[in-house]
Amino acid sequence: MRETVSTATVTAGNAEIPALGFGTARMTGDECRRAVETALEVGYRHVDTAQMYDNERAVGEALAASGVGREVERSETSDGASDEVASREDERGESAEKRAGATGSEQREDPGNASGETASERRHVSREDVFVVTKVHPDNAARDDVLESTRESLERLGLETVDLLLLHAPSDRAPLEETLTAMNDLQDEGAVDHVGVSNFSVEQLESARELSETPIVANQVKYHPYHHQDDLLEYCVDRDVCLTAYSPLAEGTVPGDDRLAEIGEPYDKSASQVALRWLVQQPGVAAIPKASSREHIEANADIFDFELSANEMAAVTEVGDGVWNRLAAKLGLH
Ligand SMILES: NC(=O)c1ccc[n+]([C@@H]2O[C@H](COP(=O)([O-])OP(=O)(O)OC[C@H]3O[C@@H](n4cnc5c(N)ncnc54)[C@H](OP(=O)(O)O)[C@@H]3O)[C@@H](O)[C@H]2O)c1
Repeated sequence: MRETVSTATVTAGNAEIPALGFGTARMTGDECRRAVETALEVGYRHVDTAQMYDNERAVGEALAASGVGREVERSETSDGASDEVASREDERGESAEKRAGATGSEQREDPGNASGETASERRHVSREDVFVVTKVHPDNAARDDVLESTRESLERLGLETVDLLLLHAPSDRAPLEETLTAMNDLQDEGAVDHVGVSNFSVEQLESARELSETPIVANQVKYHPYHHQDDLLEYCVDRDVCLTAYSPLAEGTVPGDDRLAEIGEPYDKSASQVALRWLVQQPGVAAIPKASSREHIEANADIFDFELSANEMAAVTEVGDGVWNRLAAKLGLH
């Protein structure tokens, strides 16, 4: 069966990470809630947030509105209004319907999403089907701060467990061993399923793997056609670590790239779709594009009905090399 945004995964350690996730940086409040709801409706099953993004509460509201339901009690919504308490499994459907009705989404035409699900199926996303990632702020790297801030993240997200907890970046607030031990303890108590890191070099990742009692299943780093990560990717693939590509569209630069658009022409795909396909087609790579409009959210998910040939994969890589070479020449680096 053909893979879709809902089914394509990267296996890393004992984790199955959906290959295309939804990035949420620089979106807060209603904008973030609406975008995440749309992404779940379209079929995304991997949502990336962070303590640093100031949007975990909005992400939690979107999860609840999509039928994932609140697993923990919470008293405030992102706009400060009081919220119902603990809509559990048996209440999830009704709550999701009410919320979808309130946003008017059921009045939209329903062409079905990338996975062919109907509107009502889309509104009933099961908790176990969504892979929720959040990140410990580097300032919270000391043991007590890891424990406390992660519990606060869970409260904001309305979840009892987050699927993957990352250390957002190497931190000088505490030795890495202390941070990872606290993250492992959160796994022991069931607050976290898997642990990982972000913005780690090969050497830092090697240390993390040695220090963590459980597998480091992901390293989330900048990776897109203009920013290659060959050594890190090779290391990750050899050690069963998912390389999660952040800023996969080079923060909005990729969509305007004529050379990438040309590679997509035979498939009727855009430059963005070519870049995302190039990423998820590489073994061990997941990508988490951010988008705020439905049009972009849907387009970015529509990358599982074509395959780039080996020559086309190399051509995308070369586009990036070309950009780097021109930039380096401009900066007088070679
Ligand atoms: N771990 C870390 O340190 C770290 C750092 C950076 C990012 N991240 C994660 O990675 C995610 C993605 O990275 P990013 O937000 O930096 O940038 P990105 O995903 O590379 O690019 C986002 C930009 O591209 C635009 N866009 C998206 N889809 C498009 C399409 N189909 N056509 C045209 N334009 C499109 C978006 O516009 P619209 O919003 O208008 O749709 C937005 O301006 C973040 O949201 C975050 O979750 C992690």
